Amino acid sequence: MLGNLSKYTPLFLVLAVSGLILLLRNIHTLEKFNCQTVSALYQLQSKLDSAFRSPGPSQLDRNQSHCASLGPELTADEAAEEHHLLESVAWPEPRLSAVPFRQSSDPSRSFFVILSPGGEWRVGGQLEALVHMHDFHGQPKRHGGDFLLARLLSPELRAGVAGRVVDHQNGFYSVLFWLPWAGPAQVEVSLVHPSEAVQVLRRLREERPDRVFFKSFFRSGYFSETTVCNLCLPPRQPLCNYTDRHTGEPWFCYKPKLLGCDTRINHAKGGYQKGLLTSQEALLFQSDINIKVPIQASGPDHVIVLSERKEKPETERSVNGDAATYRPSGFYYQDAWQTLGGVPIQQFNDTGAITDCLRGKVVNIYGDSTARQWFEYLNAFVPDLKEFNLRSPKNVGPFLAVDSEHNILLRYRCHGPPIRFSTVAASELRYVANELEGLPGGRDTVVVVTVWSHFSTFPVEVYIRRLRNIRRAVLRLLDRAPDTLVFIRTANLQAVDPEVSLYNSDWFSLQLDTVLRAMFRGLPVVMVDAWEMTLAHSLPHALHPPPTIVKNMIDVFLSHVCPKRKSQ
Ligand SMILES: *[C@@H]1O[C@H](CO)[C@@H](O)[C@H](O)[C@H]1NC(C)=O
Ligand SMILES: *[C@@H]1O[C@H](CO)[C@@H](O)[C@H](O)[C@H]1NC(C)=O
Ligand SMILES: *[C@@H]1O[C@H](CO)[C@@H](O)[C@H](O)[C@H]1NC(C)=O
Repeated sequence: MLGNLSKYTPLFLVLAVSGLILLLRNIHTLEKFNCQTVSALYQLQSKLDSAFRSPGPSQLDRNQSHCASLGPELTADEAAEEHHLLESVAWPEPRLSAVPFRQSSDPSRSFFVILSPGGEWRVGGQLEALVHMHDFHGQPKRHGGDFLLARLLSPELRAGVAGRVVDHQNGFYSVLFWLPWAGPAQVEVSLVHPSEAVQVLRRLREERPDRVFFKSFFRSGYFSETTVCNLCLPPRQPLCNYTDRHTGEPWFCYKPKLLGCDTRINHAKGGYQKGLLTSQEALLFQSDINIKVPIQASGPDHVIVLSERKEKPETERSVNGDAATYRPSGFYYQDAWQTLGGVPIQQFNDTGAITDCLRGKVVNIYGDSTARQWFEYLNAFVPDLKEFNLRSPKNVGPFLAVDSEHNILLRYRCHGPPIRFSTVAASELRYVANELEGLPGGRDTVVVVTVWSHFSTFPVEVYIRRLRNIRRAVLRLLDRAPDTLVFIRTANLQAVDPEVSLYNSDWFSLQLDTVLRAMFRGLPVVMVDAWEMTLAHSLPHALHPPPTIVKNMIDVFLSHVCPKRKSQ
């Protein structure tokens, strides 16, 4: 019998080996399939879910994962700053935890009125409107927390300016506009999310930092495996700890079963967790009902702004200079962005002017796809700039464009994880702070940093830590080379629907953006206010703002790189 069995040993061996090969091939095909189609994320979700057993809602709450505290301990100063920043983005909490849907804010039953104490409006003055929110029964709301946006537009003049919304926490909101132009001006107010939906977003941000998940492909020899990665993972399996040595930025993947942690080949967006909402909560996220829906005026929604009075009485002057008057960072006039004070904005319509401006410069752009838009714009618009083919994956980079005649170098590199790009090679995953450490800097070095969108699914502390590392590196760069020009492009508004809201709502972006501005306030960097530039324009909101808006951002950028000499 034994002899009989040993006769078949070679056959068993062949069977076992071919089985193993088949298994490995299947793992590989599944991986390839997932990687190439991450953009079709929603359809693929079910496949991804079966490929990676998704953690249930209770498995990744912060009690177990402690996302924010995974990094190094904060110093006392850092903790104090974080506390202050979190207070600055505190959002009113409702008194009741679960309000019936029909008692949530209904934009179609809410309205605003333009207040006209003096009966006339003048350039340099202020316009105020009062918004009164109501629920679906038509009952007035008695608490605040709705997320509203407001702008003043003039289609005739292709002009626009962002308004400021003040929550009185009793169902009333003031909307304040600074008046930059003479002529017609139309007030637009919209409800981005009712307060009840903001509560849901807040809960998701704290409890479900895993709602966008990531994955890495590991390979060594014939073996390959894909595992789930994130800033924090419940330790239900052994982990690979990819925490960055220099910055302390945490990153983890589940350890592959057969391979070591040093066999990580790439990083990619894994997918979006589904089933995040109860059916009651889902009612709070309906396009055309309560996501980015205009609120109508009761009475006129427009005014005619008169030109500035030549002889201003002293009293009025001091009223206008009052701290209570809201000042936007800029406005559109004839579709061209103008900033208030500071460097005058020139229009770089002509590619020759751009080449002249960038002559001899090295422009380093770091960040997400909204930073990549600057690279793409300059690369497409300036014929002398030739993209050097680094054989980088499409939309991922790194990218390089060169104008050797005018000695211009333009570079783009994406920021480190969490980044929801399709496949990024593990060897190309770099943190912006570390990249900045590698720049000598100087008067021919220009740096652009845009980091926001990929942080929207995480608690704010995660973003604060990232910005603290970047800010530290910026300050060291400016210390060793004070002539270096550093730009920070802020977050922008985007198109939101019921699904996008849960991962990328403007509410998340607003919170991050408030923190970004506070953390760089007073530092010698140039803020390019993408938030106001998208809010004040009549074009539809988009994660990647349309070319007209990008052109205006580039005008702001180049106006600072090459400020106009005063011709006096
Ligand atoms: C988990 O955290 C929530 C708040 O985030 C808290 O209310 C709850 O008590 C915590 N549970 C445990 C077991 O610590
Ligand atoms: C990961 O590594 C960092 C240092 O590299 C360490 O401080 C941290 O405690 C580690 N985290 C875990 C969960 O092992
Ligand atoms: C730039 O182009 C815009 C739109 O075509 C035009 O309105 C503006 O006058 C131009 N500016 C300059 C300085 O050429």
